[in-house]
Amino acid sequence: MENNRGSFSSNLGFVLAAMGSAIGLGNLWGFPYKMGANGGFPFLIIYLTFVIFCGVVVMCVEMAIGRKTGKSPVLAMSQLGKKYAFVGWFGVLSATLIMGFYSVLIGYSFRYMFGFLIQIFGASGFGGMDGGAFFGAYTGNIGAVVGYTILTFVLCYFIVAGGIEKGIEKFNGIGIPALFVILIAIIIYNFTLEGSEQGLVFMFTSKGMEIAGTEFNFLNACRTAAGQMLFSCSLGMGAMITYGSYLDKKENISKNAWIIPAADTCAAILAGVAIFPAVFAQGQSPNAGPGLLFITMHNTFTSMGFAGNIVGALFYLLVIFAGISSAISLMEVSSAHLIDSSAAKGKPMSRKKAVGIIAGIMMVLAIPVCIDKLGGAGWGIYQFLGEGSKDLLDLYDFVSEGVMMPLGAVLMCLVVGWGKGMDWMADEIETQGNKFVTRGFFTVCVKYITPAMMLFVLISLALSYVGL
Ligand code: TRP
Repeated sequence: MENNRGSFSSNLGFVLAAMGSAIGLGNLWGFPYKMGANGGFPFLIIYLTFVIFCGVVVMCVEMAIGRKTGKSPVLAMSQLGKKYAFVGWFGVLSATLIMGFYSVLIGYSFRYMFGFLIQIFGASGFGGMDGGAFFGAYTGNIGAVVGYTILTFVLCYFIVAGGIEKGIEKFNGIGIPALFVILIAIIIYNFTLEGSEQGLVFMFTSKGMEIAGTEFNFLNACRTAAGQMLFSCSLGMGAMITYGSYLDKKENISKNAWIIPAADTCAAILAGVAIFPAVFAQGQSPNAGPGLLFITMHNTFTSMGFAGNIVGALFYLLVIFAGISSAISLMEVSSAHLIDSSAAKGKPMSRKKAVGIIAGIMMVLAIPVCIDKLGGAGWGIYQFLGEGSKDLLDLYDFVSEGVMMPLGAVLMCLVVGWGKGMDWMADEIETQGNKFVTRGFFTVCVKYITPAMMLFVLISLALSYVGL
């Protein structure tokens, strides 16, 4: 590369890093439950439709913008037109907000991993409490929660400050293969448990709705699938613009755009198969969010006896790998902005300093999430989000995942499809003799299908907030 921003050493390194960004807590605690509670198999079909007609498309658009401009989101978008810079700002803001709660959850996972780990050696990891009691005690222990959150930030800082090739690429090169190995090991173990097939019934058949107490509603399923897909594939907020800006010109973007969402979807389905069979075999009931990942899984492992300590420690290690590999890309989006914008102003800032500043800002946002105790502190300033939203985490999530990311995705498609034109995009993809795989498909989607689908979902989401 002509400047000293850094770059990925190979396409495999890039693909693993992008998979690392995509595969995260969203896959583990969001997808499996949402699939079960929204109709099972029909939900999977709706989700796949969004992956193909929106996910793959936005992925390709983002990578093309990133590599063409060689910049992080704000400068990249303003290079397409000064007035589009705000789309990049949405990305930087979303990344900062998401990290504000993501880091806290990774911190929880460290606590749980250590708990099961020391139980292997006979110590008591959770003070003899069951899942619910321990979760209440732990989230109420603000000192510990903040401490583990800081641990997460320190680790992410060292990886991101290490640079693209020596930090991010290296971590994902080990973390992502390890993640799939652990997932498969847990799945194999689960199927030795009696009653585990009930977990598959929950996920894949309409029985899941009965168990979750929900009803199938097509529009709801579409909204849920669309939001989940964007979040899960790390789209609509410039993460893939940023990673794309470090990709060598000789690599084929349109091919990568199919591989990464496909791997993310596989990971989401595998996560469900690693979680629900165990939950049902141990007589626990499925639910969503932090409750599933911590309370339910804690009880599930505890009731497995001694083996549960090993499976539990492995499971939380998996959550940590998935979480950190996503968190570093969140940190990279905002840090890259600081690095690029300071260089553009003629006062280049070192990577270490930029990452340090961003990690500090993100931590300031994370501390209130720790103190809020997932709503336990009773602040209630987020009531306007409606029923079921009771904590700061939901507020951060709503602003990023619910508003800025879908808007960002639509705007990026419109700017490229109509503003710049498909020849502009094709030009970038076909550099150095690469084939623009399925160009016709991308053209129709970028210009019409993807923005229409995303707008439809955004509008219906907005209407649902005013009670329609
Ligand atoms: N994809 C991540 C997950 O599934 C979360 C996420 C959303 C993200 N947007 C991102 C991660 C941007 C990195 C960058 O958990």
